[in-house]
Amino acid sequence: MKILIIGNGGREHAIGMKLKKDNPLHELYFAKGNGGTETIGSNISLASLDEIVNFAEQKKIDLTIVGSEALLVEGIVDAFEQMNLKIFGPNKAAAMLEGDKAFAKEFMNEYGVRTAKHHSFTNVEHALAYSKDHSYPLVIKATGLAAGKGVFIVNNYEEASTTINDLLIHKLMGEAGNEIVIEEFLNGFEVSVLSVFNGNKIYPFISAKDHKKIFENEEGPNTGGMGAIAPNPLFTKEVELDFEQNIMLPTLKGLINRNLIFSGVIFFGLMVVNNKCYLLEYNMRLGDPETQTILPLLNTDLTEVIENALNGKEIALDWKKAHACCVVLSSKGYPEKAETGKIIHGLNNSNINFAIAGAIKENDELVTSGGRVLNIIGTADTLEAAIDKAYDAVGQVHFDGMYYRKDIGKIR
Ligand code: AMP
Ligand code: GLY
Repeated sequence: MKILIIGNGGREHAIGMKLKKDNPLHELYFAKGNGGTETIGSNISLASLDEIVNFAEQKKIDLTIVGSEALLVEGIVDAFEQMNLKIFGPNKAAAMLEGDKAFAKEFMNEYGVRTAKHHSFTNVEHALAYSKDHSYPLVIKATGLAAGKGVFIVNNYEEASTTINDLLIHKLMGEAGNEIVIEEFLNGFEVSVLSVFNGNKIYPFISAKDHKKIFENEEGPNTGGMGAIAPNPLFTKEVELDFEQNIMLPTLKGLINRNLIFSGVIFFGLMVVNNKCYLLEYNMRLGDPETQTILPLLNTDLTEVIENALNGKEIALDWKKAHACCVVLSSKGYPEKAETGKIIHGLNNSNINFAIAGAIKENDELVTSGGRVLNIIGTADTLEAAIDKAYDAVGQVHFDGMYYRKDIGKIR
């Protein structure tokens, strides 16, 4: 099959590696890919949605998988479907569950999906008045897409007022912050549940735990994700049942009632407080770095999973009874302004399992090109052994300014 994967991160490299492992005959194309994807397929530079559609048509691409969210919100699935091209992902209307947090909250409210108490604002005075009357901390979110960086936890009115002004007046997050959501702070543990929707049923993957903050002990600003483990040891049977009843099934009801029908991924970003799940957000694509962590544990053929979803068929998922840990190596300066252009050493060692995220090939050398550079993955029979394996491999890799968290997998 000719498969086009849209995106250029570690997630897309990991998807490609899994597809290729399941079926070495697949011909892979990446738009635009990175220094890792070019070793398993062809990287293509396509600047716009139109160019992507034209490429898929001319190359007779059999299946397109969309990694990142921006094009989903732009309507890539609708554009492909109009041309009768097969694509795995939500249409524009459903992608708004990720692209507009105010819309997502309204959906959650209507269908009884449990979430933090909240209010949406476009007006500064109203937002300030609301924050004055509240106990802290509070969470302030830009409603549009912000690559995981549009969420601010504020500890007092002064911080709240600075953030509200930054977002609504100074446009710190651009258009993404034209509207904000202010919500109660939930103190619990986070779980990522990725799932596949086939148009009539949701099939959850094994759970994962992402570490979003830049510093150890979950301190500092949010990032796209600094590492993950799977399965999440805190996602017990009891919590899983609560998730199904209070998050997944009400979501399914909402999707069907509102005719938000598609074949693609729904990623539930949960906070669990006293064994009760609260939905922090929907993402309508695979997570990064959850994907790099989870896919090595999936026995089932990924192409088959996607084909079955696209045909509205039942999906069977078979998981290894094992654990995985993924450590993200990032560039100096991330998540603000990341340094790039640094040569990466030590990856050639054949016992390292990795996905390449922000790095490109230049004169036969792998050079950093983004904030999150590499994902180093350990899998083993126990979580502890998986963590050790990942960090042993991390110790063999180096680039100037390389930063990583040393506590990935340590659960609070
Ligand atoms: P979101 O993009 O909405 O998932 O938020 C990004 C991150 O901010 C989450 O993964 C949490 O770590 C944190 N966060 C978001 N909402 C809340 C909340 N209501 N209470 C505590 N932390 C939150
Ligand atoms: N790791 C979280 C995300 O992909 O949004």
